[in-house]
Order: sequence, then C-alpha cells, then structure tokens
Amino acid sequence: MTLQFSVASTAPETAETACIVVGVYEQGVLTSAAARVDSAASGLIKRQVEAGDISGKTGSSSVLFAPPGVKAQRVLVIGLGAQKSFDAARFQKICIEAGRALGRLPVADAMSWLSEVDVPGRDSAWRVRTAALAADHAAYRYTATFKPRDKPAPTELGAIALAGAAEAQASLDQATAIAEGVRFARELANLPPNICNPIYIAEQAVTFAEGQDKVSCSVLDHVEMEKLGFGSLLAVARGSTNKPRLVVLNYRGGKDGDKPYALVGKGVTFDSGGISLKPGAGMEEMKFDMGGAAGVLGAFVAAVKMDLPLNLVCVVPTVENMPDGDSYRPSDVLTSLSGLTIEVLNTDAEGRLILCDALTWTARTFEPHTIIDAATLTGACVVALGKHATGLMSKHDDLAAELLDAGEQTLDRAWRLPLWDEYQTQLDSGFADVANIGGKMAGAITAGCFLSRFTEGQRWAHLDIAGTAWDEGRKGLATGRPVALLAQWLIDRSEK
Ligand code: BES
Ligand code: MN
Ligand code: ZN
Repeated sequence: MTLQFSVASTAPETAETACIVVGVYEQGVLTSAAARVDSAASGLIKRQVEAGDISGKTGSSSVLFAPPGVKAQRVLVIGLGAQKSFDAARFQKICIEAGRALGRLPVADAMSWLSEVDVPGRDSAWRVRTAALAADHAAYRYTATFKPRDKPAPTELGAIALAGAAEAQASLDQATAIAEGVRFARELANLPPNICNPIYIAEQAVTFAEGQDKVSCSVLDHVEMEKLGFGSLLAVARGSTNKPRLVVLNYRGGKDGDKPYALVGKGVTFDSGGISLKPGAGMEEMKFDMGGAAGVLGAFVAAVKMDLPLNLVCVVPTVENMPDGDSYRPSDVLTSLSGLTIEVLNTDAEGRLILCDALTWTARTFEPHTIIDAATLTGACVVALGKHATGLMSKHDDLAAELLDAGEQTLDRAWRLPLWDEYQTQLDSGFADVANIGGKMAGAITAGCFLSRFTEGQRWAHLDIAGTAWDEGRKGLATGRPVALLAQWLIDRSEK
C-alpha cells in the first residue's frame, strides 16, 4: 500500500502528529521550520548543533524526543548538507533519507516541512510531489517471499502530511498515482523468476484491467503468435517450458479518434543467455530482465490512476531465455514478423529479438502517435552510463527532447546516445537481412540500431534501462525506473 498523503498548513510547533520533520543545513543554518521549532523549544536544536549532535550533513538524522514547547512527541531533524550547493537531486535524496528514518520510528503518521525547503529552479508543486514520491519509495518493503529479519518499527508509518498550500493537493494526487505505478513495477520486478514468469505477468495485467473502467487487456499465447508470424520472439522462447505471452493493455482516456501513445517493454522473466550461456556470477540479477515490462506496466498504472485524457496502449512481449535441446542457436536465421530475416550470432542478445516483433505488431495494430520502448537491453549501456542515467536513443530530436525533459523534471534522468547511420553497418550479415549483434564497439547503440530497423516510419524512442532498473548487490531492489519519467512524459502530452 502506498502511503497516504495530505497537505498541512499548520505551524510545526503546534502540529498534531506523532512526528514532525524539519531540515538543518551544515554549519548550523536552520530552515525556517527548524528555527520555529528551535525557538518554541527554547533553543534545543541550536544547542544540539553546538554540542555536535546535529551535523547537518546530507541525509543525517537525529530524533528529539518530547522536546518542550512542541506539541508532537518527536522531531526528526534531517541534515540538508551545505546550503550553497543545495539542488534538486539533493532534495530528493534527503526526502528519501527522511522516509527511511521515519520508517525506523514507532510512528503511524508524520508531518514534514522539507517540502518548504527552497530548491533552485523548482516550484512548490514540484517539491511536494517529489517529497511524497521519495517518502513512498523509502517506505516500500519487499516481503512477498520472506519475513524480513530487520523488523520494521512496531507501528508502521501509514500517512505523511506535507507542508504546503491547499493547491498542493493536486500534486499529491499525481504523486499517489505515480507511487502506485512505481510500486507495481518494483514488486513485479523483485519477484523471483519461478513466480514471475510470462503467465504471471499476463495475469497481473488482466487483474489490473478488471478493476478499471477504461482499460481492457488481451493476451496472445504462443499458438496465436505462431499464426501471426512472431518468428523472432518465438525462437527466443523455445528453450523454456514457461511459454511466452504478448500482453496488451489498452486505456481509452482520450477521444475516440485520437491515436494512442504506445509503450513497449522487454519482459524476459529470466535471461540465462540461452545456448550463449552467461557466466554464473551475477546471473541471478537476470530475474530483473523484465524491468522494461515492469516499467511500462507501472507507467500505464500511473496514467490510468491519474485519469489522463489520452489513449494509451502498453505492449509487453514476455519470455524466458533458457538453454535446452530445443533452444534456438547461434547461426539460426529467423524470420521476424516484419518479414526481415535475422541471423542469430548470440542467443544472449535476445531482448531485441522479442522487441522487434512486438514493435512491428504494435505499429501495425494501433498505428500509434508515438512508440517508446523500455528494456534492460545491454551491459554496454551500463558501461557507458553507469547506474545513474538511462540510455535514450531516438532519431526524433523533438521526442528525445521531450523525454530528456521528463527525466530532468522527475530526476529519473536519461542521457542521449546517437543512432547515426554510420553504426548500422555493424549489423551487416552475410546470411540474413540483419545480424542480432554488432560487435565489440558501441553495444548499446547497435542494439538501438537493430530496433530502428523495425520502427522505420514510426515516431519512436528507445530507453535502455540496464543500469537503472535495479540497485546493484545481493540485496539490490528494483528501482521502479523509468515509471516516473514515462508518467511525466505522458502528463506533459496531456497538457498540450
Ligand atoms: N539482459 C541483458 C543485458 C544486461 C546485462 C542488462 C547486464 C543488465 C545487466 C541482455 O539480454 C544481454 O545479455 N545483452 C548482451 C548483448 C550482447 C550479447 C551483444 C550483453 O549486454 O552482453
Ligand atoms: Mn541476454
Ligand atoms: Zn536480456
């Protein structure tokens, strides 16, 4: 469940809540809310700063219990770092830290004044929305398959009020919808591949659609895809006993004649590499190889919950990539749905092979206004951009600009890589129209180039989220990216 959000316009020292949250910069610079609490409590915060208990370092936190002169039983003081260099990314970070600190306290509700901290270039609507999304992000726990050892606080945090004007309620409603989409994506991606297989993903989509008026869902199985000619997708799926699905969600929030926007997400529920088997170390992370599917489904959930006035389709090709006696093999030549033949040079470059058929089908079926795909497509993208930026590729400068802007707004940022024709020759094959890998150099770009062969004539962009879809390490969780970016992009499209 997402946290409940509301706006509060009371003074911090008289607020009726289990815990109030205020910020302090380094060098003892108090925010105005902290200063109010400090004077109500006869200088308690300043004394703790002088004593060295409160450093103001970014993300640090201290709890004042039963401070005199303050109605709330607890004051959570969050460090904001140096005031001079305070920026939007730092704001998001401290809001996440505040959420984590609140999660450790035995409080059911809290009121935060972090939403009143000045952020260069961002307005109060942005601050309220970002603070809410950050708090919900911090409150998420994965518990589907175990009882967490580090027990949460005895009383669970359920509601946060953010300081702001009544107009901020609209931002909070948006944040709640996006938070729901982010949670949907994170939970789906965190589930293990023995639970979250193609059929499971299809069931989640069907279940979501059942609860919504304007949403319908249809699912194609391998027999139907066989009839239609999904030769590339089905080749990838062949090695697994978990049969593939094409999951299609359709939301009609716009006018009847309006062309839909289309989101397509890579849904490889486990990527072993197939016959081009991956090394053992780190292979478990390939349960997240359906992060693109999770991301587009999450963005779809957010768009529906916001009731955006546009038409939207979400298409998820979902398979498992496994080695088997019936697996597809390097050197196989596949006939894709588009009619183009593909020489398989590596069965681990499977994402593009399921996406190409899904992109062709989406374009033919819906004639969309714009198609965006999201995929954990290449290790090369992680090498190029690391864990912070999603790789964005598009031949459409205006579309690329829209997506970069949505990323900046939400701090779910992307960075553009070129799709110049010069790279296309790396995909030449002596045996088919195109090869499925482009060699050592520019792997993220040649993967994008491969997809571009199947999107000619479409207004299309590709998001490589291989580095951004989950946090690294044994306990790394799905991040929910790029739900916020896509949701913002759709919001911006609705406002035109
Ligand atoms: N799912 C992987 C990409 C990936 C790797 C995502 C590591 C996140 C972390 C994809 O299917 C894959 O295996 N790509 C290959 C392509 C190569 C064979 C051209 C890769 O990146 O190594
Ligand atoms: Mn692979
Ligand atoms: Zn993959």
